[in-house]
Amino acid sequence: MNFRFGQKSLFSTSSRQNNALRALVYHKNGNPAEVMRAQTFEPLGKPGPSQVRVKLLLSPINPADINVIEGVYPDAPILRSDLVPKAGASSSLGYDREKPVFVGGNEAIGVVTDAGTAVQEFKAGDRVIFDKSQLGAWATYQNLEAAQLAKVDEDISDVAAATMRINPPTALLMLRSFTTLQPGDWIIQNGANSAVGQAVIQIAAALGVNTINLVRNRPDINNLMIRLHALGATRVLTYNELADKAMKQEVKKWTNGKSIKLGLNCVGGKDTTTMTGYLGKDAHLVSYGAMSKSPISLPTSYFIFKNLTCHGYWQSKWYNDHSKADRLGVYAEIMDLIRQKKVSYAARVTEP
Ligand SMILES: NC(=O)c1ccc[n+]([C@@H]2O[C@H](COP(=O)([O-])OP(=O)(O)OC[C@H]3O[C@@H](n4cnc5c(N)ncnc54)[C@H](OP(=O)(O)O)[C@@H]3O)[C@@H](O)[C@H]2O)c1
Repeated sequence: MNFRFGQKSLFSTSSRQNNALRALVYHKNGNPAEVMRAQTFEPLGKPGPSQVRVKLLLSPINPADINVIEGVYPDAPILRSDLVPKAGASSSLGYDREKPVFVGGNEAIGVVTDAGTAVQEFKAGDRVIFDKSQLGAWATYQNLEAAQLAKVDEDISDVAAATMRINPPTALLMLRSFTTLQPGDWIIQNGANSAVGQAVIQIAAALGVNTINLVRNRPDINNLMIRLHALGATRVLTYNELADKAMKQEVKKWTNGKSIKLGLNCVGGKDTTTMTGYLGKDAHLVSYGAMSKSPISLPTSYFIFKNLTCHGYWQSKWYNDHSKADRLGVYAEIMDLIRQKKVSYAARVTEP
């Protein structure tokens, strides 16, 4: 198992012990490095009539997964009192192994190994993703309601499928939901080398929309710029470059005086204030993350004189507010983008 914090990674959930359920669990919120443990549980019974057994193959660690474990995220997994610690097996941290636990992880690709008697839509061998949040992805297998799953097409790789439910739809729907973007329009985003940011770059490029992409400076900044340009970024700037007053004129030259219609923010803090200053009249600022953990402060004049509109976006809410047909429609759209090589899984993802 490869379970690394800091950089996004995928870990393989295949078990060496037949039928034993192995999972990354916690029973109280806190620093993941302190509260998480790997534990072996007694094998689960056969799936119920409306359930399928899913062998989980790969699962990413998204920033929100860490927030869930910390207890600072509005969604949480259910407490699992049905998991019985395997007799004699020790957990990687030796504390109260008898308590009910939460299973970590929100997103995964799995394969159906067994289906309940009433299940029509899945059979053994089907590859599936979760169609519901917080089901507990960091386990070797789970018995899940068939209604909580969605099929993955055969030509979509495991790595792409394991990371297709959260980040690419967030990018696609933010680009679509707040303003109408035409080919040749401009948007600006921070955290541009995040998984969502890379999906924004790729989907915007596929739509013919220009992107100004903001990243933190680093020793190998040129390599990062080359990588983001290769994905389709129109321009890449560091936050320091953006803060330089002369940059406003430079950006006007790039856009040929065209207003920037949309700003996407996953960072917050003063760099977001600076970025918002680049938006044109009637523009929209959409916040979907807060990686710097700093609040956003915006001059009132942006609202009065530029008619700025600010929004929040949460993909989980979108899924909750939409029908199964709508959700399957988005998965199909993302699989099409992957198939056409218009979206690839983020370069931050490391394969196991
Ligand atoms: N609202 C939603 O529905 C939704 C959906 C998906 C993701 N998200 C959120 O979007 C954000 C990105 O998620 P992801 O999975 O794409 O992340 P990711 O691939 O792990 O990338 C994290 C990004 O955050 C940047 N970053 C970290 N700390 C920073 C700081 N103090 N100042 C500036 N930048 C910082 C990193 O930049 P460096 O490379 O410079 O370290 C990197 O670009 C997270 O906050 C996540 O929770 C929200």
